[in-house]
Amino acid sequence: MELRALPSQFSFSTPPPTASTATATMASLTGAATSRLLPSASRARLSLSSSSSPASLSSLRCLRGSSPLVSRLFLNQRRPSMHLSAALYSGVASPKCAASDPEQLKGAREEIKELLKTKFCHPILVRLGWHDAGTYNKNIEEWPKRGGANGSLRFEIELKHAANAGLVNALKLLEPIKEKYPSVTYADLFQLASATAIEEGGGPKIPMKYGRVDVSKPEECPEEGRLPDAGPPSPADHLREVFYRMGLNDKEIVALSGAHTLGRSRPERSGWGKPETKYTKDGPGAPGGQSWTVQWLKFDNSYFKDIKEQRDENLLVLPTDGVLFEDPSFKVYAEKYAEDQEAFFKDYAEAHAKLSNLGAKFDPPEGIVIDGKAAPEKFVAATYSSGKRELSDAMKQKIRAEYEAVGGSPDKPLQSNYFLNIMIFIAALAFLTSLVVN
Ligand code: HEM
Repeated sequence: MELRALPSQFSFSTPPPTASTATATMASLTGAATSRLLPSASRARLSLSSSSSPASLSSLRCLRGSSPLVSRLFLNQRRPSMHLSAALYSGVASPKCAASDPEQLKGAREEIKELLKTKFCHPILVRLGWHDAGTYNKNIEEWPKRGGANGSLRFEIELKHAANAGLVNALKLLEPIKEKYPSVTYADLFQLASATAIEEGGGPKIPMKYGRVDVSKPEECPEEGRLPDAGPPSPADHLREVFYRMGLNDKEIVALSGAHTLGRSRPERSGWGKPETKYTKDGPGAPGGQSWTVQWLKFDNSYFKDIKEQRDENLLVLPTDGVLFEDPSFKVYAEKYAEDQEAFFKDYAEAHAKLSNLGAKFDPPEGIVIDGKAAPEKFVAATYSSGKRELSDAMKQKIRAEYEAVGGSPDKPLQSNYFLNIMIFIAALAFLTSLVVN
């Protein structure tokens, strides 16, 4: 991360640390701070979590430790050589880390809701899901080389990337849920936790699907450096470079940045933010850090309002946040979202679902929907290809990314295609008529 002169509300204290320096426990909270920060629905439902359960042997099948640290986190990890026997113990014929079970997904979701009520960890769960998915590179076809939502962030090698400082705490929080619901893949669990945190924080319903396959060894983690930097020399160019690589567009960059309505930045993790402010000194969760908004556990459009005004020095504005109101293309959306929370929620929900699917390999290929509504349509590649040969997963992914890069979807061909077809039809008709007349 590059150091540069920052306006007074920015604070840059220490160089980026490693994950091992992150010590927050997310334990303490005060009643006053809680009532200030939580949406009323969450306040009314405070209760103790009951997520612990004996580890199931079947959880052995998906895990292979890369270090003592991660092994301590996930006691159910195995060496590759023991994989087959683990699969036999679990009664699962195939050792692949695939196929979440719909009932287990629902169970895990309830546990995540309980966790949120007791630990107030909405922000870090959202960041976990984003950092697993955000390594996607649409120019690489091969899974898992292309990165994305594949559970690779559970391995120590990736957790130690500077951008992931502190996320080990999110893994610790989810570990008992993974043990209790071993059929839920890590890739699904991270995205389930993130979407649930947005919804429980008062945000929109995210049209999620599940069934993401996990990578199975640390060697399959992406290289460091695919996630955005908060203070690059040219923030707008940098954001475009990173998010376009994921197949996301300007609207999605602005909408997704709105996730910073939740949470705080901590100097001892990212190097950004003040050690504490009047809004963070009492928690909830581990106190400290600098938030982007006053009510940093409530998902709403205050991020855009606060950045636009920049009146409160307690609130954080990263260079990559500030540029959303400076760049002409970003500004259109940022202004709209500051005015219209409904528009923000709609665009955010779509962009979040798309982010959560980046690079993912689904089993079954169309994914698993657990809510029975707002489900993405099945993508049947054959509809978009000729001949009898089914397209490979990599090719489907490429087609989808290309559609999505221009704001479309293979499930819903672009409006302009219909228009073009009509124009071609009219031209052909005119040509034929002229032939007949002559
Ligand atoms: C646009 C580029 C982005 C940059 C440069 C960026 C940068 C950062 C930084 C520096 C932090 C502070 C981390 C810490 O000190 O603990 C942070 C936190 C956070 N980010 Fe981002 N981020 C970006 C996009 C996103 C997106 C797309 C999402 C989600 C969709 C997201 C969700 C979060 C959340 C929820 C937190 C708070 C975490 C916590 O309180 O523990 N960010 N981000």
